[in-house]
Amino acid sequence: MSNRMWGGRFKAGPDAIMEEINASIGYDKRFFREDIAGSIAHANMLAKTAIISEEDRDAIVQGLADLRDEIEHNTFNFSRALEDIHMNIESALSERVGKAAARLHTARSRNDQVATDFRLYVRNTIDLLMEQIGDLQRALVKRAQEEYASVMPGFTHLQTAQPVTLGHHLLAYVEMLSRDYHRFMDARARLNVCPLGAAALAGTSFPIDRDMTAQELGFDRPASNSLDAVSDRDFVIETLSAASICAMHLSRFAEELVIWSTPQFGFVSLSDKFSTGSSIMPQKRNPDAAELIRAKIGRIFGAQVAMTMVMKGLPLTYSKDMQEDKEGAFDAFDTLSLSLAAMTGMVGDMVFDRDKMAAAAGAGFSTATDIADFLVRTLNMPFRNAHHATGAIVALAEKNNCTLEQLTLEQMQSVEPKITKDIFAVLGVENSVQSRTSFGGTAPDNVMAQVNHWQAILGA
Ligand code: ARG
Repeated sequence: MSNRMWGGRFKAGPDAIMEEINASIGYDKRFFREDIAGSIAHANMLAKTAIISEEDRDAIVQGLADLRDEIEHNTFNFSRALEDIHMNIESALSERVGKAAARLHTARSRNDQVATDFRLYVRNTIDLLMEQIGDLQRALVKRAQEEYASVMPGFTHLQTAQPVTLGHHLLAYVEMLSRDYHRFMDARARLNVCPLGAAALAGTSFPIDRDMTAQELGFDRPASNSLDAVSDRDFVIETLSAASICAMHLSRFAEELVIWSTPQFGFVSLSDKFSTGSSIMPQKRNPDAAELIRAKIGRIFGAQVAMTMVMKGLPLTYSKDMQEDKEGAFDAFDTLSLSLAAMTGMVGDMVFDRDKMAAAAGAGFSTATDIADFLVRTLNMPFRNAHHATGAIVALAEKNNCTLEQLTLEQMQSVEPKITKDIFAVLGVENSVQSRTSFGGTAPDNVMAQVNHWQAILGA
């Protein structure tokens, strides 16, 4: 049944099916600029080494520049029969400039050509993603500066643990994003070698100058082994892996925004721009953008797994399997780019409820550790004993249905007679965060110092 449904499209029989499975032009036309840049560099090198004439080079370079204009203006007719971007452009070039075009593919194969094009494309994509990560970091640092002293509950096990400042929490994501940034930077440095000139797999007998093409295309050097040059797709997997980790970080933050924006928490309200209403429940505001960012990791990580599976077990060198390196990667990079943009927008627009956060920060006996620290500091109690005594004080507050601050001195002295009224100075959430001055701790002064540190790095 379904067979008849799609089978009807293949009027010309198996040949049409072959064309459908074989052609990549539907998606690899995306890197036409990179393909043309690679061909121009190759033609320049062929002329410089006197493998082709300067007249042929001029005709080729001019023809390619014209074709780039055409494609940019959407007047180019892509043909599926011509399979991929490389053959579409070469065929159009020969229509345009005639015989000279036929010399362009000297000392080159589609194998080194596509490896070069895709490296250039991934490199450009990394540059864009790094820029976007910087934008999100700048947005977070700005909010962290505003909220450097706003107290909120810090959680472990998603149970209220100790008070922290919201600025500190936001800067935790700036740290994660900084690692993401550097992972992309590392991937970029490793991918930046030029496969062009490896030809089909073995190199070429023509006296080419691989340093020249590598340099013209902004690569650090030519790839050293022609077999590896045409069959390496590590750069795709590695970049997808950096993308997956970054998407995982966005997903964690997105989840926190989903939780924080519930009426039960009420820490944050996301702007209308990034929320939707319900078609049946008029009171609802749904954090759709955050939910979608939370989910997008699925396809990004999926692309990484898919690409690793494509490469697994492939013998050297090029196999057509490798054509499968593109669609998933395009989708994953687009998805991460969109997620970063949406998160940056949300961070800039969201409104925090400082009172709600402060109230929640004191709930759940969150300053209990401060009592234990007080007992250690002022009574020289061993921490384990102090922990035990504090447990009894918490139990007392629980029994009396009050907060730690609301206990009387006498009540606390019933647990540990040496406690003095000085203990009240450590009980409030403000006191608690103020006291966390160890390096990397949540004290507002520390947070402000970190804000300054990041502003200097990010140019914010
Ligand atoms: N469209 C192909 C790809 O993306 C280009 C390389 C084709 N090479 C070959 N020997 N058939 O992988």
